[in-house]
Amino acid sequence: MTVAEAKTLSPLVEELQAKRAESQAGGGPDRVKKQKEKNRHTARERLDILLDPGSFRELDAFVQHRISDFGMDKKKQLSDSVVTGWGTINGRLVYVFSQDFTVIGGSLGEAHARKIVKVMEMALKTGAPVIGLNDSGGARIQEGVFSLAGYADIFLRNTLSSGVIPQISAIMGPCAGGAVYSPALTDFILMVKDTSYMYITGPDVVKSVTHEDVTHEQLGGASVHASKSGVCHLVADDEQQALLLIRELMSYLPQNNMEDPPFVATTDDPLRADAELDTLVPENPNKPYDVKEVIQHIVDDGIFFEIHENYAANIVVGFARLGGHSVGIVANQPMVLAGVLDIDASEKSARFVRYCDAFNIPIITLVDVPGYLPGTSQEYGGIIKSGAKLLYAYCEATVPKLTVTLRKSYGGAYCVMNSRHLRGDLNLAWPTAEIAVMGADGAVSIIFRREIETASDPVAKKAELTAAYKEKLASPYPAAAEGYIDDIIEPRETRARLINALEVFINKRDSNPARKHGNIPL
Ligand code: HXC
Repeated sequence: MTVAEAKTLSPLVEELQAKRAESQAGGGPDRVKKQKEKNRHTARERLDILLDPGSFRELDAFVQHRISDFGMDKKKQLSDSVVTGWGTINGRLVYVFSQDFTVIGGSLGEAHARKIVKVMEMALKTGAPVIGLNDSGGARIQEGVFSLAGYADIFLRNTLSSGVIPQISAIMGPCAGGAVYSPALTDFILMVKDTSYMYITGPDVVKSVTHEDVTHEQLGGASVHASKSGVCHLVADDEQQALLLIRELMSYLPQNNMEDPPFVATTDDPLRADAELDTLVPENPNKPYDVKEVIQHIVDDGIFFEIHENYAANIVVGFARLGGHSVGIVANQPMVLAGVLDIDASEKSARFVRYCDAFNIPIITLVDVPGYLPGTSQEYGGIIKSGAKLLYAYCEATVPKLTVTLRKSYGGAYCVMNSRHLRGDLNLAWPTAEIAVMGADGAVSIIFRREIETASDPVAKKAELTAAYKEKLASPYPAAAEGYIDDIIEPRETRARLINALEVFINKRDSNPARKHGNIPL
């Protein structure tokens, strides 16, 4: 380039730089200050924390909305109210959008929606995850049906991307009205304690319709959605933690459904025998213990990335690595409701199993379950269809599926917790396993009722029959004799046996009959 050319170019470059600066200023210093006062970062600061330094490439920085009614011609801002583009997390490509609350409350109009749709389509074409940072007052009221159309365009892409590329939503501020449905269509929702909330209508509408007095937090705060509704999968104490959690979560996931998850080498010996496992599970089937401790003793470096920690805690799900391979773990939790399967636990684990299956993540199932929870509240709530969801999820899953029965495995819960009959690839049991239609006490009371009632000493008779039942049926041996259990192992061997099996089944190929799609009981 000659000096003369450089001189003519320089005003143009200056103009570009000025426009870029304008675009990056968002809603201006006052609104940025307000955002900070609410303990929230700006849209761009969030991307700086989420992405590898210097990796963000912005798109559509010069897009503006085209509405002039209601004084909107004076509220035009380069970039509109969302920042979009791509970047990397630990060197791997991700597409991002980050809503900018400082511009018209992050509200979503036509231009905003088009920007999001563009990155979603690029992500689908190139097979990379989409991460959305949500902070928005919802549909931009002044844009009327254009806003609604924009949402619908996003919902369609969310659905078409489901099971093809990972989609992650972080709720960093308000998320109201239809705005909740895009996150709800994605794979994981993270929320930030005290500064983010999600609901279909805010407290004022609730008050006018149901006369309930609720705060934003009570209606749709992080703790509500993480523990009561189950809408939220991960909760962070602050925004920084939320964004770092996304980076960690990504390390377990493949880029798309055609790839395997990343292998992360470990110094944790794959053959490590863990003697503590031998004593962790009490032999008495009525005594609780924390299955998360069992998981920590088995997986690489004791690291377990739990999903849905505070929701349906009677079942535990999450990611870990075994010998460097990313795995999904599903484990009954005897510490909560004796690990029983109820509606929430069935739905939570069914969704997790389907996620793992969609993204080629092997599933490890640790079983200690007394059965499905009986009672009117469960029956009226639809335990039949919720329980069937978990059955369906395990049955259709074609990823490597390994099971270890730690202790109880009774009734329908035996079938559902990835038994061999549902295409379990390797089903192991500890010597403490009891695989039967039901526990000894209940079984003896039913099948020997008359003998017990007519015995001279009913208590002694029941004890005698219970002991006989335990001896005959409440062990892993009848199932192992049929080959339903492939091997009975010492607890300390579990890690080595699972890693070995993972390496055997990692290239497993299995399929389901061709069809448009199945009809999971919703
Ligand atoms: C246009 C909006 C807006 C919206 C906020 N703003 N939401 N502008 N459309 N949906 C503007 C405000 O007018 C204000 O502009 C600026 O953003 C900041 O908003 P504040 O209200 O000052 O902020 P705050 O006090 O923090 O309250 C945040 C809020 C509140 C709770 C989100 O703004 C709010 O209730 N917004 C409306 C939420 C809502 O009902 N959305 C529509 C949902 S229906 P100025 O210039 O005055 O500072 C929907 C249907 C979609 O989404 C259906 C799809 C299927």
